[in-house]
Amino acid sequence: MTANPPGHRLGVVGCGAVGSTFAYTALIRGLAQELVLIDTNREKALGDALDMSHGAPFLPPCRVVAGDYPDLAGCQVVVIAAGVGQRPGETRLQLLQRNAQVMAEVVPAIVRHAPDAILLVATNPVDILAYQAHKISGLPVERVVGSGTLLDSARFRYRIGQELGIHPRSIHAYIIGEHGDSEVPVWSGATVAGTRLGDRPPLGLSPEQRQAIFAETRDAAYQIIAAKGATYYAIALALARICEAILGDENSVLTVSTLVPQYGVYMGVPCVVGRHGARGPLPLTLSPEEAQALDRSAAILRETLQALGL
Ligand code: 2OP
Repeated sequence: MTANPPGHRLGVVGCGAVGSTFAYTALIRGLAQELVLIDTNREKALGDALDMSHGAPFLPPCRVVAGDYPDLAGCQVVVIAAGVGQRPGETRLQLLQRNAQVMAEVVPAIVRHAPDAILLVATNPVDILAYQAHKISGLPVERVVGSGTLLDSARFRYRIGQELGIHPRSIHAYIIGEHGDSEVPVWSGATVAGTRLGDRPPLGLSPEQRQAIFAETRDAAYQIIAAKGATYYAIALALARICEAILGDENSVLTVSTLVPQYGVYMGVPCVVGRHGARGPLPLTLSPEEAQALDRSAAILRETLQALGL
């Protein structure tokens, strides 16, 4: 087992399904030397810390502690997963009011005790709340990152890989825009081994296949929430991937949520992710239809921000 890199400390604010699953994922992946778990339900945070600590003999060394905001001092990344999840059939944007208040309380407390941390927002609607976190925190844009459409891109690659019989790792395809109903599949940029996807085998998909793949990608959360009440495994893995890129100063390209200057909103776009946080968006090459869909996604986010008074 590889020892943890010295001095990597991760904070998790919100030990619900997403936050605790992320913490566990970070633990088994050996991402940090210390995990600080914070939740308004302190018993839950304590229970999670103890339960994970009991796995110590099977894991790279990592202290898992339940704490409070002062214990975040020195964390390189603080993941914000506090708030409530979607009810069956509820859109992420309908969650907004309930979670915007949570962010208004949590962000100042984090910045006060961990002023040098990168904030990684997972709470939905993530694009709106990452924008709000950026505004409240006063931190540079690159240091306030939303999970964005990294999970959607993973779902997209998974479904394309299923159709083509190719591992998702070898499918390069992105979802951009809102992490939500107006997200945009960038079919024009989808490639395998540098070859763009066509319309027939072995590296092609029919219009019907493309429509099904994107619908299932966009609506995946509704399906899973209806089945088991919440999603948490894949989003936890996506959050761990972002933390890995930050802590390892990878400068990997990930579709996280950042401020897109031409729109004035946070949305999922390809960014370079390293110890600085997220730098982007990288220049996008889109078809006219994709560009139009992205404009629409941005307009929906803009209207929502205005409704929130941001
Ligand atoms: C997801 O897409 C609910 O945003 C969460 O799984």
